[in-house]
Amino acid sequence: MKEPKIIELPKLFDDRGNLSYLESEVHIPFKIERSYLIYDVPGGEIRGGHAYKTLREFIIALSGSFDVVLHDGLKEVKFHLNRSYYGLYVPEMYWRHMDNFSTNSCALIIASAGYLETEYIRDFELFKNCR
Ligand code: TYD
Repeated sequence: MKEPKIIELPKLFDDRGNLSYLESEVHIPFKIERSYLIYDVPGGEIRGGHAYKTLREFIIALSGSFDVVLHDGLKEVKFHLNRSYYGLYVPEMYWRHMDNFSTNSCALIIASAGYLETEYIRDFELFKNCR
């Protein structure tokens, strides 16, 4: 999958509380190798501002809301995440940042590989030239 996409997860509605789940390579199109959280983001702060060479991610708003802004080198597209039962699939080679975090928001980011600084492109001009 080469395009960003909102993926809705299975939902089991229950009077005791709802349940959603995701399985590696079933509900998201990659094998899960790592996950991390972004939380306690002060108002107005921005996370990200980079692209990954080969890494793919799936981003869920576990609580609260925020925007994920993606740039493919030509145009920008913004996704507002505010539910825990869907998330945004982000392919490799998309410049991305996250902003507009609500109070008490928490982002769960599921990644296709372990943390490797050499995966990052942190210069937007370089990113555009590589695209
Ligand atoms: P980074 O991905 O640059 O955060 P953001 O894009 O939100 O600004 O990560 C910030 C720091 O956290 C980075 O210097 C290394 C560390 N880090 C890890 O050690 N493991 C991880 O899985 C991640 C995502 C970051």
